[in-house]
Amino acid sequence: MPVAVVTGAAGDIGAAITRHLTATHHVAAVDIDAKALSAAVSDLEADGLTVTAIRCDVTDTEDVARMAASAAELGSVSVLINNAGAARGLTLHSMTPGDLSADLALNLEAALTCFKALEQELTRCDNGAVVNIVSVNGLGTFGHPAYSAAKAGLIHATRAIAVEYGKYGLRANAVAPGTVKTRAWKDRAAANPKVFEEALHRYPFKKLPEPDDIAAAVDFLVGPAARCITGICLPVDSGLTAGTTALPRTFTQSTDFDG
Ligand SMILES: NC(=O)c1ccc[n+]([C@@H]2O[C@H](COP(=O)([O-])OP(=O)(O)OC[C@H]3O[C@@H](n4cnc5c(N)ncnc54)[C@H](O)[C@@H]3O)[C@@H](O)[C@H]2O)c1
Repeated sequence: MPVAVVTGAAGDIGAAITRHLTATHHVAAVDIDAKALSAAVSDLEADGLTVTAIRCDVTDTEDVARMAASAAELGSVSVLINNAGAARGLTLHSMTPGDLSADLALNLEAALTCFKALEQELTRCDNGAVVNIVSVNGLGTFGHPAYSAAKAGLIHATRAIAVEYGKYGLRANAVAPGTVKTRAWKDRAAANPKVFEEALHRYPFKKLPEPDDIAAAVDFLVGPAARCITGICLPVDSGLTAGTTALPRTFTQSTDFDG
């Protein structure tokens, strides 16, 4: 089986992506959090799935080089899913220099570091695929400005990989989740238990995406059905980036936009 590297694999979206990809790949599940990674891998193994855990801080270049070497020992690495990510600085006004560098390091630079570390593997196999997990924050303004700028940068980097590496049979795409209930929301949900209800109010399609919805999009983009799709950013956002109903309601005064 070809090898797929999934970063942030101990998180809720990463674990769902890992689960989906085990059907077609030997997954190298990568995360900085050894305890959470071991728990996520145990869950998968309990269901009879085989994955290999690799502890790695994706913001550390030497650690990433070691991770890439370990992944290559498992077989030919044909897939890289850059999923590790988190947001720190809330607003431009409150953002510290530390927030800025942390947000850019994890959400932009680390993805490119992982890509560069696996470049040889991904180009050698003739059907490689990279999927970068970005965010609706990379497409619009929803707070967390440095994180958002990093995700917008990663959407550009996705296109850059698609253009420069297409000649090697390598495809690169991005998936932009909307609000997904994961442990990344733990503190915000504790501070405001209605945070998801309030967010849902702004979504045209009245269901929030779940980790499995993100994983299904990744699975599609990695697989043969997407063999001519490269350089795109696919929102899995229940219509958030299509627009909200509030302004059309104001402009048209039509109750068709209510509800
Ligand atoms: N949950 C959402 O609403 C949402 C929305 C849009 C985009 N996303 C993106 O989806 C991806 C997954 O997010 P999630 O909600 O599952 O978060 P999560 O917190 O559940 O998972 C993130 C994982 O990344 C790991 N990680 C953090 N720093 C790392 C590092 N330096 N090296 C290696 N691993 C590291 C964490 O340990 C964690 O297991 C992220 O890129 C996030 O930006 C999430």
